[in-house]
Amino acid sequence: MPKQIEELPLVGIHIDFASGIPLYKQLYSLLREAILSGRLKGEQKLPSTRTFSNDLKVSRNTVVQAFEQLMIEGYITGKIGAGTYVTNEIPDKYILDRKAQSVAKNKSKIPSIKLDKKFGSTGLIHRNISEDKIAPFQNGLPSLDDFPFSTWLKIINKNGTYLPRLQFGYKSSTGYEPLKEAIANYLRTYRAVNCTSEQIIIINGSQQGLDLISRVMLKENDNVVLEDPCYFGTKASVLSAKASIFPTPVDDEGISVDYAAKHYPKPDFIYTTPSHQFPLGSTMSISRRLKLLEYAYKNDAWIIEDDYDSEFRYTGSPLPSLQGMDKLNRVIYIGTFSKVLFPGLRLGYLVLPSVEMVNPFAIVKSLVDRQSPILDQVVLSKFIEEGHFTKHIRKMRILYKERQEFLIAELKREAGSLLEVKPSGAGMHVVAWLPDRFDDKKISVIAKENGLVISPLSEYILKFKRRPGLIMGYTAFNKDRLKTGVNILKRILKAQ
Ligand SMILES: Cc1ncc(COP(=O)(O)O)c(C=O)c1O
Repeated sequence: MPKQIEELPLVGIHIDFASGIPLYKQLYSLLREAILSGRLKGEQKLPSTRTFSNDLKVSRNTVVQAFEQLMIEGYITGKIGAGTYVTNEIPDKYILDRKAQSVAKNKSKIPSIKLDKKFGSTGLIHRNISEDKIAPFQNGLPSLDDFPFSTWLKIINKNGTYLPRLQFGYKSSTGYEPLKEAIANYLRTYRAVNCTSEQIIIINGSQQGLDLISRVMLKENDNVVLEDPCYFGTKASVLSAKASIFPTPVDDEGISVDYAAKHYPKPDFIYTTPSHQFPLGSTMSISRRLKLLEYAYKNDAWIIEDDYDSEFRYTGSPLPSLQGMDKLNRVIYIGTFSKVLFPGLRLGYLVLPSVEMVNPFAIVKSLVDRQSPILDQVVLSKFIEEGHFTKHIRKMRILYKERQEFLIAELKREAGSLLEVKPSGAGMHVVAWLPDRFDDKKISVIAKENGLVISPLSEYILKFKRRPGLIMGYTAFNKDRLKTGVNILKRILKAQ
């Protein structure tokens, strides 16, 4: 015999015993109203007559009478005593009309919220969201089809059962110890980051790292040097602290320290993506790194190193992190698992320059969201410890390199006269440069109407205008999809 599922009482069903209205009629009217307003949906199972009778303190007969009436009028189907369901046959229009009426009635009472300008652009909320199918050339998205979800699920099964119960309670807001240990090991070995696990705070992706830095460290009117063009999530976090932004051009060796030193002699923070500048793609040279560190030291400034996709290097040996070259503990290092595993995981890490800095971050993180989800942290730590992480990186490096080469070859062959594109030694996207007469924002809008997701370069510009360009992600798409995407883009560009 199947196990009886405990049912919860329905909300908003109250019988008025003093009203004089027959009890079955009251219950009938309340259920009918709940169905017509859409609160009870088609095919939804109703609680049993026994549950209603217990919860409402009415006889079972009263409930049966109400059900019978609803059944006669076609609001519910099934068999009283064996399972009754809301009918599917009430036209949506009727339900929607009722909903619209109640919304219209209430609208005037709802105060509207105006988002403060300090939060900057709304780009982040719209960016990279796919409702049905992931569309080429969405950038920063790994190949979700190639993630070893079966291994991930096996680890969940094993650890969800055997993990000590204590781990499921409130724990340190800095994160799960074995995960911090695994990350520290990885960073020391593969990124030349100079750290121990005590300097690490587990965060919900790098965006939370940027937000925490701005909450904990940034003060109103602080001077923040940003790469121009720049990731708009960074700009928004800086603006939310009401700090001032100092745009600094980027060249083939990374952020122009000469420009910054000349124009911004008093920086408090410098934000940079040295492994793979976002979005232009340059890798910061060693000499530029040394110069940048000197600039920070001289001004007693902090450097924020956002190492968002450094795992994907296709040419030469990886350069050590800026953090690893820092002798005076001025670099705050941010890493994420969004690119190397999958963005929906929402896990990343901050490596703070000293153990003493951890406590203020831990306090603020606990105020924001208490701690990151434990089961995901446990699974991830096992995934790293058991070697699946480095194996996945190796596999993806080969796949992504192939995809980049394929995309560039297709772009050159199909649209070589309309755009210019160069290989990128790292990362997950390339920039396709357009002739000056093109409007990259307009092309992005037309691309969207044609099923493509392409970010225009101009969206990331802070101050220094550049040629129009398209940010083209390739990692999440197989060759067929890249090819189809290039053909659609070619048509769009030709029509301009
Ligand atoms: C440069 C850069 N930093 C940070 C992020 C944020 O990543 P997440 O919050 O998913 O870790 C992104 C995402 O695309 C990025 O491009």
